[in-house]
Amino acid sequence: MPLTDRRDFLIAGLATAVAGPGLARAAAPEPPEPLRLLILGGTAFLGPHIVRAALARGHSVTLFNRGRTNADLFPRDKFPKVDKLTGDRDGKLDALRNRAWDTVIDNSGYLPRLVRDSVMLLRTSVPHYIFTSTISVYADFRGARITEADKVGRLKNPAIERISGDTYGPLKAYCEDEVRRSYTEAATIIRPGYIVGPGDRTDRWTYWPVRFAAGGEMLAPGTPGDPIQIIDARDLAAWYVHLAEAKTYGTFNATGPASPLTMAEMFAAIAAATKKKTRLVWTDAAFLRSEGVTVPVWRSPSGPTMALHRVSNKKAIAAGLKLRSVTHTATDTLAWWRTLSEPRRMTMRAGLRARPLLPPGPAPLDSVMAEEAALINRWRDQRSRR
Ligand SMILES: NC(=O)c1ccc[n+]([C@@H]2O[C@H](COP(=O)([O-])OP(=O)(O)OC[C@H]3O[C@@H](n4cnc5c(N)ncnc54)[C@H](OP(=O)(O)O)[C@@H]3O)[C@@H](O)[C@H]2O)c1
Repeated sequence: MPLTDRRDFLIAGLATAVAGPGLARAAAPEPPEPLRLLILGGTAFLGPHIVRAALARGHSVTLFNRGRTNADLFPRDKFPKVDKLTGDRDGKLDALRNRAWDTVIDNSGYLPRLVRDSVMLLRTSVPHYIFTSTISVYADFRGARITEADKVGRLKNPAIERISGDTYGPLKAYCEDEVRRSYTEAATIIRPGYIVGPGDRTDRWTYWPVRFAAGGEMLAPGTPGDPIQIIDARDLAAWYVHLAEAKTYGTFNATGPASPLTMAEMFAAIAAATKKKTRLVWTDAAFLRSEGVTVPVWRSPSGPTMALHRVSNKKAIAAGLKLRSVTHTATDTLAWWRTLSEPRRMTMRAGLRARPLLPPGPAPLDSVMAEEAALINRWRDQRSRR
C-alpha cells in the first residue's frame, strides 16, 4: 500500500537555514457556539488530538468505539466534556440511536458496508459528516503531482472485506462514496498523507528523529532533492475542528508542509531539533533495492511512487489548514518518544530494515544501527569499485 511502506553529505550547515521558527499560527477566531462532536473512534492517534483540539475550543465530544484501544483515555472525572459510548461499527450501533450531534468525525471507516451503516443511522441526527480517508485512494502515482481531481482506485470486487496493501485505498474510495451519497453536499472528505507526531503508534516517521538523536553516520535514502510530505497530527486535528466550526464541505488532500520539502531539508530540520552531529550517507535507490533495504516514509520519486510525496495541499490550506515546522514536530515527537517505557523504545515498530537480517517488525535501534553500518560499508565498497 502506498502509505506503508533511496553522496555523502554533511548536515550541519543546512540545519538552521531550513528549520525556521516554530508554528506561526494566527489566533483562531472564537467559535460561534459550542459544538457537540461525535468521533467514531477517537482513542488511537489522530482521535485523541482531535479531542484535545475540540476541548480547547470549548466543544464537547462523544467517542464511540469498542473500548479496546486506550480505554482509559479521557476519564470522566478529569474530562467532563468527553462522553464515551461503547459499541462496534459492525452491527452494534445501538448506542448512537436517539442522540443528536452537530458533526460526526469518522476515523474508523475502512469498509463501505460499515460506513453505509453509520451514515444511514446518523444522517437524520447529525447534519455534517467528516470522513477520514487517505491519499492511498488515488489510482496512480506516476504523474508529476496529485490533486483532488485525480482518479481514485477501484476494485473488481468492491464487496471484498480483506484489507491489504492492494485494497486499503480503493475500499476507502468506496467508503467516501457512501458518505457523499447520504450526506450529499454536507460531506467533508479528508485524504491525509503520512500522519506523524507525538502519539504515532507506527513509529514510521518517529524513526527519523530517534535515529538522528543517536548520532553518528546515518544511511539517507535516495537523493537530497527527493520530495517528502508529512502532516503533524495536531495540525490535522485542529483543522478538523475548524472544518466542523466553519461547516466546510468538500474533498481535501491533507499533506504538509506548506511548501515543497526535500529529504535534505527534512533531515536538516530534524537535525536542528536533535542538536546532534549526524553525518548523512546518501545511498541510491538501486543499491537499496539490491540489498532488500526498506526505510519508512521515503519512497523513490520515480515509477509507481513518483507523486506519492507530491500531493497538492493547496485546497486544504485555502480551507484553513495551518502547518507547523518540521523542527517543531521533530522536537515534540522526540520528547514524547522519551516518555515511553524502555521495552517499548527497544522495539521500534518501523525503521531501516534489510532482509534477511532485519526483516519487517519491531527491532531495537542498536540492531538497526549495526545493520546500517554494515550497509554503509558495502555501499562504499561498491562505489569504490565503480
Ligand atoms: N496514520 C496515517 O499515516 C494515516 C494516513 C492516512 C489516513 N489515515 C486514516 O486515519 C484513521 C486512523 O486514525 P487513528 O487510528 O489515529 O484514529 P483514532 O480515532 O485515534 O483511532 C481509531 C479508533 O477506531 C476504533 N475502532 C476500531 N474499530 C472499530 C469498530 N469496529 N467499531 C468501533 N470503533 C472501532 C478504535 O477503538 P477500539 O479499538 O477500542 O474500538 C479507535 O478508537 C484511519 O481512517 C486511517 O485510514 C491514517
